[in-house]
Amino acid sequence: MHPDSRSISRFFQGLAEVCPVGQLEHFHLIHWPIEPPSPLDPLREAGFRGRVVVARASLADAIRREHPGVDLVLDDHPTAGAMAGHLLMELPQGREASRLAIDAALAALRDEESRLWLFGNRESGILSVSKGYDGVETVLCKGHLRLLSLSRGSRLRSEKTVLRSFAPGADGFASLEAAGLRVALRPGIFSWQAIDPATLLLLEAIREQPGRRLLDWGCGSGFLGAALARRFPDLRVVLSDDLVTATHCARRTVEWNGLAERCEVITEDGIGRNLERMRFDAIVTNPPAHRGVRSNHDATLTFLASAAGVLHPGGVLWLVGSRGLDYGTLMRSRFGQVEERDGDDAFTVWRGVKTREKRVSGSGGRVRDGQWLEADGADPAFRDRLNAWGRGS
Ligand SMILES: C[S@@+](CC[C@H](N)C(=O)[O-])C[C@H]1O[C@@H](n2cnc3c(N)ncnc32)[C@H](O)[C@@H]1O
Repeated sequence: MHPDSRSISRFFQGLAEVCPVGQLEHFHLIHWPIEPPSPLDPLREAGFRGRVVVARASLADAIRREHPGVDLVLDDHPTAGAMAGHLLMELPQGREASRLAIDAALAALRDEESRLWLFGNRESGILSVSKGYDGVETVLCKGHLRLLSLSRGSRLRSEKTVLRSFAPGADGFASLEAAGLRVALRPGIFSWQAIDPATLLLLEAIREQPGRRLLDWGCGSGFLGAALARRFPDLRVVLSDDLVTATHCARRTVEWNGLAERCEVITEDGIGRNLERMRFDAIVTNPPAHRGVRSNHDATLTFLASAAGVLHPGGVLWLVGSRGLDYGTLMRSRFGQVEERDGDDAFTVWRGVKTREKRVSGSGGRVRDGQWLEADGADPAFRDRLNAWGRGS
């Protein structure tokens, strides 16, 4: 369970009593939910005036919306490369990603007085950090959330337990050979140790060139978009993802494979300012079903409501998802000729076409906690199906 809004507020109010909030130079957020309460409210009330560094475009958009005027940077380094006196950071998900982020944060501390203030809940592994490092102090514990304090000298107790499988090159990326491609990976992105079987299933299902312009939405490492660009030499591909680390990897993947001229990589939440101005013949996606450690379909549902808007008439959406999730029902209210094109015991590949009959007015709006927020953006049929889907999933 993610902490409820009351315990989040209590935690950040408590934080202001144990941590020198006015001296925090950076505050780094990675997977934090975009819905209120924002941890920034109590922090700003307690005098925080530092820079907010966010690792996701959706977080940057939410903070710009709710806290205009905040000094904000989109970066996956906890201080965006700067040195810091005091730094407050969300613990990323996963052992290797946590270790990398903590190392980067400790290396960014300016002197012996500087502190890394690290917060997270049990699901994100905060307890193993409190046990696994020397020189770490637990300074606040409210509900599922904990705040740890580390200094420049804090060290991991046993090197053996972590980073067993992450062996980066000098540029910081690990590489994997798959489908004739060299794929760039880093901990923190989806399926960073191997190509996901659902993604492979989708790649195999696409046997003919999907037009001239393709969008790989939620591209992660860039494997899918790059593999299709390699397979079809006159295909132009836009690869987009919300997560900065993912688009860093995707950019490296297309460069490593000599595809940069035909592939553009964009960091963006859903179909945002950049993508909405573009038009495609096809979209491929293995869409997100989680945010951090939490199961969450909001980004995918929002995307499904507006995906047809960036397709040319006759354009095709290819989507692979868990067999237990009926994406077809939602696709049918936005696309025609929706069919299961492939599948196995675990996953289904769906294909839908943008047809004239399914043209609907408005494509805006957002989904939060499985429910439609801005009713004007969706046709009633889609909204009703989506709200039912959100409750059932
Ligand atoms: C299931 S993963 C698939 C990754 C990659 N396509 C693959 O097959 O390995 C879903 C991807 O969607 C991205 N994502 C999550 N929320 C998003 C959003 N709001 N907008 C764009 N991408 C998002 C995640 O960062 C993740 O890379």
